Formats: sequence, structure tokens, C-alpha cells
Amino acid sequence: MNDRISSPLLFAAGAALLALVVLPLVAGCGSSQAEKPRVATAAAQAPDGEAIYKKYCIACHGSAGDMGMNGAANLQQSKLTLEERVQVIRDGRNMMTPFKDLLSEAEIEAVAKYTMKFSEGQ
Ligand code: HEC
Repeated sequence: MNDRISSPLLFAAGAALLALVVLPLVAGCGSSQAEKPRVATAAAQAPDGEAIYKKYCIACHGSAGDMGMNGAANLQQSKLTLEERVQVIRDGRNMMTPFKDLLSEAEIEAVAKYTMKFSEGQ
């Protein structure tokens, strides 16, 4: 008598167990781990030059680049190329402290690009 009830139940339980074991395996194969580092690199390649400027540079150069605090150069009148700015920011010059220990090379380039905006606006 009991057999008629328990067999379908057992089958259902077995099927559920099978699903629990097999499904995660299938899902696991779908997500390739090789793709993950590429996403992280793309994010690291595009630092926010404006955010970096506001954090590290504004105290001397001001929000428009012409504040001149501590003898800081007026970035609106700067004639330096992007490469020359990268070098000043990386290695420092006179009263300007070097940023190579604080910022990555990509961050230095991003903030240098941002300073080009001040002189372009003239
Ligand atoms: C401690 C104050 C100070 C801070 C902070 C500072 N600077 Fe300067 N910066 C200066 C001074 C002073 C000079 C002029 C250096 C000289 O007389 O040779 C200068 C010069 C420069 C120049 C060269 C401009 C030219 O035409 O010669 C650039 C570009 C520059 N700074 C960008 C930055 C950026 C970007 C940051 C933030 C990452 C920054 N500075 C942070 C003080 C500062």
C-alpha cells in the first residue's frame, strides 16, 4: 500500500537532488574566469583626472588653475606640452612636490590632461 505513495515521492526527491548537484556544475562552466581581469584593467586605465586634481592639486593651483598658492604656476598660462606636464607632476619642480609616489603613471597622465583644459579655455 505504501509503495504507491512513496515511489513518486522518492523519484521527486531524487530528481531534486540531481538538480542541486548538476545545476551549479553547469553554471560554473558558463562563467569563464579569464574575462574578469580584463574588466578590472579597463577601469584602472581611465582614472578621473578632475577628481585627482581636486584632491591633490587644488590647494596650490586652485579650482581654475590660477590661484598661485605657494608660488604655484598659473596653469591657465602654462605653455607646457602634455609630456612636459606629466614630467613636472611626476618628478616635481622647485616648490612643487613630486607625485610619483602618490599617483600611478596613468593617474599622472589623467591629471596632466585635465590641466590642459585650463589653458584651452583662454
Ligand atoms: C605644494 C603646492 C603644489 C601642489 C600641491 C601642486 N603644485 Fe603644481 N606647481 C607648484 C609650483 C610652486 C609650481 C612652479 C614650479 C617652479 O617654479 O618650477 C608648479 C608647477 C606646475 C606645473 C608646471 C606649469 C608650467 O607651465 O610650468 C604643472 C603642470 C603643475 N604644477 C601641475 C600640478 C598638478 C597636476 C598637481 C596635482 C597633482 C599639482 N601641480 C600640485 C605647486 C604645487
